[in-house]
Amino acid sequence: MRVLVTGGAGFIGSHFVRRLVAQGDEVVVLDKLTYAGNRANLAGLEHEFHQGDIADPVAVAQAAKGCAAIVNFAAESHVDRSILGPAEFITTDVLGTQVLLTHARDRGLRFVQVSTDEVYGDIPLGASPSTEDAPIRASSPYSASKAGGDLQVLAYVRTFGVNASITRGANTYGSHQFPEKLLPLFITNALDGLQLPVYGDGKQRREWLHAEDHCAGVELVLREGEPGGVYNVSGQERENMDVVRGILDHTGASPDLVRHVEDRPGHDRRYAVDSSKLRALGWSPSHSFGSGGLADTVAWYRENRDWWEPLKSDEYKAYYAEQYASRLDES
Ligand code: NAD
Ligand code: TYD
Repeated sequence: MRVLVTGGAGFIGSHFVRRLVAQGDEVVVLDKLTYAGNRANLAGLEHEFHQGDIADPVAVAQAAKGCAAIVNFAAESHVDRSILGPAEFITTDVLGTQVLLTHARDRGLRFVQVSTDEVYGDIPLGASPSTEDAPIRASSPYSASKAGGDLQVLAYVRTFGVNASITRGANTYGSHQFPEKLLPLFITNALDGLQLPVYGDGKQRREWLHAEDHCAGVELVLREGEPGGVYNVSGQERENMDVVRGILDHTGASPDLVRHVEDRPGHDRRYAVDSSKLRALGWSPSHSFGSGGLADTVAWYRENRDWWEPLKSDEYKAYYAEQYASRLDES
């Protein structure tokens, strides 16, 4: 099948391209190459590349020529950046999704929206994991924009009969992740002996899902998901401080690098999702966070400094200062 993978130069999108190429699918990538997009992620993978914006109907039409399906990974994806500047999130995550859906409708293409467990908002400790019919209670500008994209998908299914499905994945980890989210930021900082800024008490909880397992779920939904179907993709739940301790263990960095800093506004305490629906289609994860997943990821960053060091550019340093300077000065 010829598939348009939007955001294919990003973290999870590039893992998805690797997976499809290995299976012999024909892959076209449409990516704007924002700070998070990196063509090096696609090195050695046979694909057709278009640099462009999913919110631009002309770029979408050009890239989608001959494709039978669109899988939409393109997004502004980092909560902290959405707090500093929410507007771009609406343009890409809501308007961009709507432009892609319109193309899928007009050309009769299969469509998969790669969404997030964050649209359910946080759930109390001890509460059952969210199922797909849980209410949307987004907390951050990021999760609100992803929820807006999801609602567009469901509206296009119902109103126009578009053959679209949604995946809602947990916090994803693995190689090739831009060093701004918890895992790659703390791993690269620990390898460089830099401070590790833990927001608040560090007792927040997330589920950790390997990028390859996440992509296996998205592919299954692409091939077998129902129109209008929503599918959670779960990970393994951990408290943030447990994750930080694991990073210290695997990097050998000093616990003295840990700083408890001013919390993120609106910070969700816990995400957890029920993936029974996807498991019923045949999905099960093949990586374990505790036995191997985190260790392998740390090893990848240790061995691939030439991948991440150039990403800590002047633009990155400006973002880092805006996000962390006052927090780290205070501690
Ligand atoms: P990422 O930030 O690493 O990559 C996003 C990619 O999209 C980049 O290559 C970027 O250049 C591209 N992009 C951004 N705006 C674009 C636009 N307007 N047009 C075309 N391309 C554009 O993100 P990621 O972590 O790989 O996440 C991929 C998808 O998975 C996102 O939709 C995200 O919401 C979702 N998701 C991520 C996680 C996670 O933990 N990272 C978890 C669940 C769901
Ligand atoms: P993050 O990787 O940004 O993912 P999300 O907020 O989308 O779940 O953050 C994961 C958890 O780690 C979250 O509880 C916030 C916390 N965190 C820190 O404590 N310090 C940091 O510098 C970052 C980026 C995240």
